[in-house]
Amino acid sequence: MKILVVGGAGYIGSHMVKQLANAGNDVITLDNLSYGYRDAVKYGEFVEGDLGDDKVLDSIFKNGDIDAVMHFAGFIQVGESVVKPAMYYHNNVASTLTLLDAMLRHEVKNFIFSSTAAIFGEPDYTPIDERHNKQPINPYGHTKLMIEQVLDDYDRAYGLRSTCLRYFNAAGADPDGELGERHIPETHLIPLILQAASGRREDIKIFGDDYDTDDGTCVRDYIHINDLCTAHSLALQQMIKNDASARYNLGNGKGFSVKQVIDVARAVSGADFKVTIEPRREGDPAVLVADATLAKQALDWQPEFANLDSIVKTAWDWEVNFLLKQ
Ligand code: UFG
Repeated sequence: MKILVVGGAGYIGSHMVKQLANAGNDVITLDNLSYGYRDAVKYGEFVEGDLGDDKVLDSIFKNGDIDAVMHFAGFIQVGESVVKPAMYYHNNVASTLTLLDAMLRHEVKNFIFSSTAAIFGEPDYTPIDERHNKQPINPYGHTKLMIEQVLDDYDRAYGLRSTCLRYFNAAGADPDGELGERHIPETHLIPLILQAASGRREDIKIFGDDYDTDDGTCVRDYIHINDLCTAHSLALQQMIKNDASARYNLGNGKGFSVKQVIDVARAVSGADFKVTIEPRREGDPAVLVADATLAKQALDWQPEFANLDSIVKTAWDWEVNFLLKQ
């Protein structure tokens, strides 16, 4: 297949491009490099441009040979979305509509969308399945849910098939050591802990230890980036085969507290580092764990990196062998 990966120079997109190319697909990355890295696109063709730019999109779609689009070019910082909602609505909603319009103009009817656990808001119950209420508590979550709703309507009206994949906590790095997580600023727990372990950061701050969880710190469901990408590949195949849209929650179904993640990072890295307790970060639910039964059954998807040690190990190798040398 020929697949357009929008945001293919970012963390998840770059791993996806590699997996698609290694499976024999023809891949084009479109990325404006606002957060992505040119050198993270190691496979296929690269086009520098914005997903909200009609001209760039028309030039990519004009040959009529694109079979599917995967969209990873969303802004992802919850806190920033609260302070700068316009930025999030423009990029995550308006520009995504421009992309979808271009797909319709060029009759490309298969779309895979990076959605998020943030569409569920504060959970009514965990693990969270696909039927759970969808009531986001921040603009980031709203933008992702809006696009999910747009996609429901575009399926009915225009026959545009979509699969929305609600990621819980994507983590880890390419086991080959070629790719990894490089967010600036970095806000995610595992890379920040590993920066403390490697000495690039003075300490790791725990945002709140008074939550209603076993050790008082927030519990999250960490899923390895390669497992996430495998779910995308399977979802695309299934969507084309069934000619039907779908929505799946993606996680390992197992929660780890911030303190447990720190313990795993200490064991994997063999390093000790300072831990500081800070006040809660606004908008953090106490527990977010996926019920990924549907994805496992419908896609025959089985995470390979099902334990947290193996996820953290790949991220640690990336920290030591790449980031520390920058
Ligand atoms: N945390 C700390 N210290 C830090 C960073 C994070 O204690 O320095 C805690 C957070 O408070 C949270 C947990 O570690 O309890 C995980 O935080 P991350 O920022 O790594 O991940 P989130 O669960 O906040 O965010 C993830 C995705 C987002 C998405 C969100 C949906 O990374 O893109 O899930 O809820 F929006």
